[in-house]
Amino acid sequence: MCGIVGYVGDKKALIKIMTGLKSLEYRGYDSSGIAYVKDGIVKILKEEGPIRNLEEKINYNEITTIGISHTRWSTHGAANKINAHPHRQGKITLVHNGIIENYEQLKRELLNQGYCFQSNTDTEVAAAVIDSLYKKSQDMVLVLNEAVKMLTGSYAFNIINDDYPDTIFAMRKDSPLIVGIGQKENILASDIPAILHITNKYVVLDNYDIVVMQSNKLEYYNADNQKISKQINIFVGDIETISKNGYDHYMLKEINEEPEIVKRILTLYTDEGRIKIPFKLNKYASVDIVACGSASFAGQLGKFYIEKFLNIPTSVTFASEYRYQKNFFRKDKLVILISQSGETADTLAALKLAKDNGVTTLAIVNRKDSSIAREADNVIYTEAGIEVSVATTKAYLAQVIVLLLLAASGSKEEGSVLNDLKILPNIITKQINDYDYKKVSKFLYKKENIFYLGRGIDYFLAMEGSLKLKEISYIHSEAFAAGELKHGSISLIDENFGVIAVVTDKNISHKTISNLKEVAARSAKILTITNINDDSFSNYVIKIDDISDVLNPLLAIIPMQLLAYNIAKLKNCDIDKPRNLAKSVTVE
Ligand code: G6P
Repeated sequence: MCGIVGYVGDKKALIKIMTGLKSLEYRGYDSSGIAYVKDGIVKILKEEGPIRNLEEKINYNEITTIGISHTRWSTHGAANKINAHPHRQGKITLVHNGIIENYEQLKRELLNQGYCFQSNTDTEVAAAVIDSLYKKSQDMVLVLNEAVKMLTGSYAFNIINDDYPDTIFAMRKDSPLIVGIGQKENILASDIPAILHITNKYVVLDNYDIVVMQSNKLEYYNADNQKISKQINIFVGDIETISKNGYDHYMLKEINEEPEIVKRILTLYTDEGRIKIPFKLNKYASVDIVACGSASFAGQLGKFYIEKFLNIPTSVTFASEYRYQKNFFRKDKLVILISQSGETADTLAALKLAKDNGVTTLAIVNRKDSSIAREADNVIYTEAGIEVSVATTKAYLAQVIVLLLLAASGSKEEGSVLNDLKILPNIITKQINDYDYKKVSKFLYKKENIFYLGRGIDYFLAMEGSLKLKEISYIHSEAFAAGELKHGSISLIDENFGVIAVVTDKNISHKTISNLKEVAARSAKILTITNINDDSFSNYVIKIDDISDVLNPLLAIIPMQLLAYNIAKLKNCDIDKPRNLAKSVTVE
């Protein structure tokens, strides 16, 4: 949620900053801005809309060696030029990712001190807080540590002080920030893609760390104003890993990576026909799975697998609800947090709640070194690589596979699950390539409403399929348990409705088919994703292979992702950066 980049070094700083910022556009793209020092003066440029609008205003020939920049997903204040970052108060110019929760109270106090505010943002208030503290002490490390005591909420800041035109100060609490270490140049950023054009060496900042960064100097301080040293990590991979590799969109590229990711997970977490995943579920009496969005739908499949193989009662709750419901934290409970980014604020808050109540936590996370990965008692990485498209595909599939391995590990089905998983990559490749998804999407893309229907595990898949479609195509869509539709919502169905049915569970397929016939009788157009042969009730059928009851659902995911992609493409939507969304949601 919002991306920030700060850079000090080369004379062509503007191009280096903007290259980094563009790679963070997945974090927000309502508006963007940059501040840089030219002849000792801080210059600020901001624009509404995507980063390309800002780029049009930048003169890349201008010489500067230092700047901070921001791409915004608005929380406080509309998405316009005034509210765009950087914000400036007195000698302080800054960009911010996060939310200052007590900004209204601070603003009242600062207004009394004579500060005026141009924007409606919490960020401008933070700039004034730091400026007012700087008037009392000229030591920026002390000032920032004082600011920490006053600001509640979450933040990653990059700050330029007029009195230090060759230095960027930075700090973080509950919003990600890394430092990329180059040769006579250094870069601060919200995420790794933004540093890779400069370096693969990076430091992950912890909460309350403060950084003082110049082209040849990097100093880190803790909350007691003491200098500290930080571990340097090396990012394995290169910029190609996060480029589109010839695909029209990251989403399509990431779907095409899925067979390789399944292979990678199997290589890492299996050995000689056994599952070697670094965690065992069987000593727990119950499991709470907590996650947001697609990760929670992966969690629903996880619940299905854990209950099926291990008989451990499992619940799945949206992280935004978990903290506000009654939870029964017993010593023999495990709380599993699932997150692609590892930075989702609601999931992080649920993790802290579980830890505060003395319950063991396990994070299933894609991004290494993310906050959730570092704070959980145990972590399993999903190893899907960097995912850029806002709508998750490969990371969701990786979450489901890891959950399946966890659940099957030590169960009597372990051998058969592993045998089936071995053939999955090839079957996924075939599923991706053997179908003309564009052709089949043509009959759905003009629909205003599409229901996804399924029973049992197919209903959990329907939830993910429906989310994928609405995220990127803006078609109204809902997932229903097929049998529940007749209890009210079927009243909406008419000939203009589209229905996507998921039928992979042969034990209950006859029941689902009855429900689909009810829908067909009301003239809705039905597309069925299935491995069964009775498709008389469907207008269109996408066939999937029949591997096993446990694996078939994983095959149905692929057509649903490709349908959403092709429908959004036919509608000319901005597939990788859908409106109003951001990939990493670091606000509650
Ligand atoms: C955002 C994205 C969703 C994603 C959810 C959870 O809302 O738009 O697609 O599923 O966050 O993200 P996480 O990084 O925790 O998996």
